[in-house]
Amino acid sequence: MKICVLGAAMTDFGENWKLGLREMAVAAILEAVAVSKLELEELDAIVVSNMSGSSLAGQDHLGSLIAAELGVNIPAFRIEGACASGSLAIHTAANMLLAGNYKNILVVGAEKMTDASADNVTKALSRAADEEWESFYGVTFPSLYAMIAREYMRSFKVKRSDLALVSVKNHSNAVLNPHAHFKKEITVADVLAAAMVADPLGLLDCSPITDGAAALILSSQQKGKAELVASSVATDTIALHDRKELTTLNAAVLAARKAYQQAGITVKQINIAEVHDCFSIAELIAYEDLGFAGKGKAAAMLKSGEFNRDGRLPVNTSGGLKACGHPVGATGIKQAAEIYWQLCGRAGKRQLKSGLQYGLTHNVGGSGGTAVINIFKNV
Ligand code: COA
Repeated sequence: MKICVLGAAMTDFGENWKLGLREMAVAAILEAVAVSKLELEELDAIVVSNMSGSSLAGQDHLGSLIAAELGVNIPAFRIEGACASGSLAIHTAANMLLAGNYKNILVVGAEKMTDASADNVTKALSRAADEEWESFYGVTFPSLYAMIAREYMRSFKVKRSDLALVSVKNHSNAVLNPHAHFKKEITVADVLAAAMVADPLGLLDCSPITDGAAALILSSQQKGKAELVASSVATDTIALHDRKELTTLNAAVLAARKAYQQAGITVKQINIAEVHDCFSIAELIAYEDLGFAGKGKAAAMLKSGEFNRDGRLPVNTSGGLKACGHPVGATGIKQAAEIYWQLCGRAGKRQLKSGLQYGLTHNVGGSGGTAVINIFKNV
């Protein structure tokens, strides 16, 4: 697979009171197009990522909406796979390019969440769980991940203070990201003292409710500074109780295995990653599912500094979902943008040392019903 990234952009993530869904999407798009040095007329398709437009923003039919805002009449449509929608949109665009029918595709993700009440947002997000066996009974995403966390903590003798290290690291990274929702350091003591959301996950173990948009321009024709070298999707049962194991997301394991194969690399060659830390426990499990850590060893490796900015494999330099924020449809595209910026030396104050070759994004829908792994290479 050889697809070039020509440009990326994101809006500020947070409570964007003055911007609606379309304004945020258009802002990210125009900046990404300007960076790519393409003209709008050179785009030949638009893939839009969004999860809850209909339930939170009262807006479906986002392909047409965005094409009309840009004044173009090209093919444009929306892709939905819960919180993995952004990476699925990239996967779709990549395969459209590989099929040879398109040359330059705009991928954009946007979500407007903070205008709705917390209750309505929770209900909208819960639609990504199994309606009949989970959300009907009042199960929410914090509670699903809390069950995973309890089982993980029991199986591997991990404490709440170990989970807290994920949030502490990601908040510390977000301080350097001008677009992040929370540009604030926190401590383990803060995490442990925060209000409980779903035991053992407190407020500071959770990603927030965020507004935001991100855009990426992919091309099969032009040359860019980074290439998408693998894009892999796998699925699993939507309901947690149907899984054989709770302490691993099998979809992520399968997608990662296939992505390393597609890229022709081993996990040891990954230099940087953005992983789906919707809750602190999710990042520990991601390390193991991706092969960054052995089973049950994630917390110890995190504690050793392996995944810090100055560690061997920095993870979530953007601040992750936890501190950069999680405007669901934009998240996977923001992850890709962060990897692109880091690979080509455009990450500003949070730029890592040079010599990064491969960067990976890990984006999960629901409690692991969908997982998408994209791998980018510096060229
Ligand atoms: N991390 C850090 N601070 C947070 C936060 C978070 N996740 N969520 C809210 N805050 C802060 C707010 O900024 C606010 O601070 P302020 O008083 O200084 O302004 C304060 O906490 C209260 O915010 P509020 O909006 O009232 O929080 P809430 O109780 O309505 O919502 C959660 C908190 C954790 C329940 C909500 O963010 C949530 O549901 N997160 C999970 C989202 C999710 O499930 N996503 C899908 C993942 S699969």
